Amino acid sequence: MNLILLGPPGAGKGTQAKGLQERYSIVQLSTGDMLRAEVASGSELGQQAKEIMDSGGLVSDDLIINMISSRIDQDDCKNGFILDGFPRTTPQAEALDKMLEEKSFVIDHVIELKVDDDAMVTRITGRYTCAGCGAGYHDEFQKPKENGVCDKCGGTEFSRRADDNAETVRSRLEAYHDQTAPIVSYYGDKGVMKSVDGMASIDEVKGQLDAILG
Ligand code: AP5
Repeated sequence: MNLILLGPPGAGKGTQAKGLQERYSIVQLSTGDMLRAEVASGSELGQQAKEIMDSGGLVSDDLIINMISSRIDQDDCKNGFILDGFPRTTPQAEALDKMLEEKSFVIDHVIELKVDDDAMVTRITGRYTCAGCGAGYHDEFQKPKENGVCDKCGGTEFSRRADDNAETVRSRLEAYHDQTAPIVSYYGDKGVMKSVDGMASIDEVKGQLDAILG
């Protein structure tokens, strides 16, 4: 099963993709995570992407398309994948169609997480992750069971993303509405689009997704 999760920054794509990955044994392909790994490694690609990511803009289509095309070829994608943060522009959606045809993959579901922009600043500025295993948390909405200790690995070191500040979130939301929102109709026209209420609690959104995926 291959899925695309769509939604603005903070909609819950990453949170839900991590759960889907475990429940359906399919792999989460987050272009944001891949780019952050490139930045951390100091690669040329990472150096090109860093400034754009820090400002809340979108990295060039060519770079992203090449990155995802080689990732989909890896063995762990054979059982299925969740595209989280890709495609983000119409040229990326068109390139994905071409890529899938060449590689004989199909997208089974495109699911939009519908949310209110106003709530996204609070979600994003309160987000943090375990530095050891990458599990995601929130100051208010998703606290670890024991304060300061990761539920998954017991780690006690946490980090926050460089672009998770109120100012950059607004630029990211603007980029979403200008460049990504049009692909909702792109998939709507193809008849594969579904949506869930991303303003519901994390558990309720999980239930809505499972109802769609069966
Ligand atoms: P990326 O990493 O993809 O960031 P994003 O799209 O801005 O999405 P986020 O990760 O911020 O949000 P999310 O929907 O995953 O939210 P989450 O589940 O964590 O991209 C970063 C940058 O990389 C881009 O700005 C761009 O520069 C570049 N880039 C990446 N892909 C690109 C592409 N294809 N083309 C060009 N450039 C690209 O949830 C947020 C918080 O809310 C969490 O703390 C969570 O606990 C909490 N939460 C989640 N769901 C709920 C809920 N239902 N109720 C309450 N709290 C919730």
